[in-house]
Amino acid sequence: MSRRAPGPGEPPRAGDLPARARNPRTEGSRRLLEQAARLLPSGVRSNTGLAEDALLVASARGAIVTDSDGNDYVDYLLGSGPMILGHAHPAVVEAVGRQLADGSSYLALNERAVELAQAVVDRVPCAEAVSFYSSGSESVNYALRLARAATGRQKILKFEGAFHGMGDESLHSNQWTTGLGEGQAAGGTAARPMAVPNSAGLPGAVTESVLVAPYNDLAATGELLAEQGAEVAAIIVEPMQRTLVPAEGFLAGLRQLADSSGALLVFDEMVTAFRLARGGAQEAYGVVPDLATLGKTVSGGHPLAVLCGAAEIMEYLRPGREPAAGGVMQTGTFSGNPVSCVAALATLAELDRPGVYQRLAASGQRLRAGLDAAFAAAGIEACSSGHDTAFEAWFLPRPPRNHRDTLATDRGRQTEFAHLLLERGVLKAHEKFFVCTAHDDRLLEFTVQAFHDAASALAAAGD
Ligand SMILES: Cc1ncc(COP(=O)(O)O)c(C=O)c1O
Repeated sequence: MSRRAPGPGEPPRAGDLPARARNPRTEGSRRLLEQAARLLPSGVRSNTGLAEDALLVASARGAIVTDSDGNDYVDYLLGSGPMILGHAHPAVVEAVGRQLADGSSYLALNERAVELAQAVVDRVPCAEAVSFYSSGSESVNYALRLARAATGRQKILKFEGAFHGMGDESLHSNQWTTGLGEGQAAGGTAARPMAVPNSAGLPGAVTESVLVAPYNDLAATGELLAEQGAEVAAIIVEPMQRTLVPAEGFLAGLRQLADSSGALLVFDEMVTAFRLARGGAQEAYGVVPDLATLGKTVSGGHPLAVLCGAAEIMEYLRPGREPAAGGVMQTGTFSGNPVSCVAALATLAELDRPGVYQRLAASGQRLRAGLDAAFAAAGIEACSSGHDTAFEAWFLPRPPRNHRDTLATDRGRQTEFAHLLLERGVLKAHEKFFVCTAHDDRLLEFTVQAFHDAASALAAAGD
């Protein structure tokens, strides 16, 4: 029996189980999808997703997303990570509602932004000073520009397969550099990758300024820096790259290489901040960068990202310094708007409750164990990599250590597995399962059952 999407203000549905039988596409949603295909060629969020799924979301509460046909899904996409408390969490809804009555955007400095800056400094080891933006891509662009200004150098070193958003430098050799898409074949060799543009329209001069090293390979990174380190402004790294876990000593080694070459170490903690630990990956892995970009979880589901770091570097953002003296200009209409800031403050306060991180990790462990058991029962060789609260399933004998390892997975099967889960009421991100506090026992059990059903359907399809 189909259920209609919950209306505004209706109670959250966390804990409700999606119905096993899926509703067929209604005439209304079919028409909306046709309209979307005409008007929104890139979709809403990006043009990298599974177009054929064409999920049209009507609403979301807790860990449940409901589509326009009344189908519910246990959500592990979670807005690509921000919804760590689940959707429409009462504390966030209440804080945002109260703020809306006091205005939503002033441009002028506001009290909530100062409170949030303090909350970031109190939690994140590298954060002595803070700057706000509306998206992660924007914060990364500023981090790289700031690094150039502070060092007077031009080049950026990034890691193959890392994603840093949509800036010109960032759009090189990211995770879509698979060798499967036209123009995106991984270039160079495993030890010395070449910067490969992931998009048309990037200036060639930018491509020349991007160096690419293999993640988890300190020796190769050191060689590159030995040759060109004097020109490198920043080493930017996702401390956990997608779901690749840093090898013992890798991040500490990068810290040393940055210090010895005079480059700034930038952690892109868009995914890991406030998720891997209260102080993010830098707390979890015990390595403190010069600058960090934080997003997703900190936003409480609203447009907000943060650049933070050592006070003396952040000083280059202070108005009044001439560009010739390293002054970096910065402005953004919605940067630090009070609605996003109160959503962030409410989210961070909820995450401070005792036991939250332990419970998130326990939920993830249960899911990963369920995934392993499901693949084993179906006789499929697969594994998972990442953190318990953000992980991916791979059709590989062992967890990948770098981007080129991930290319050996059976991508067709990976996509098919995601489709089979979707048909069984489980929605995942195209490269991750994100875990939130609203994934309760019943939803976890439902998901593990879906893993088993999907894995045996996958095995049967392969016979
Ligand atoms: C590590 C990392 N950096 C940067 C970004 C870009 O953030 P945004 O989509 O908010 O621009 C993302 C987004 O997924 C990300 O995961």
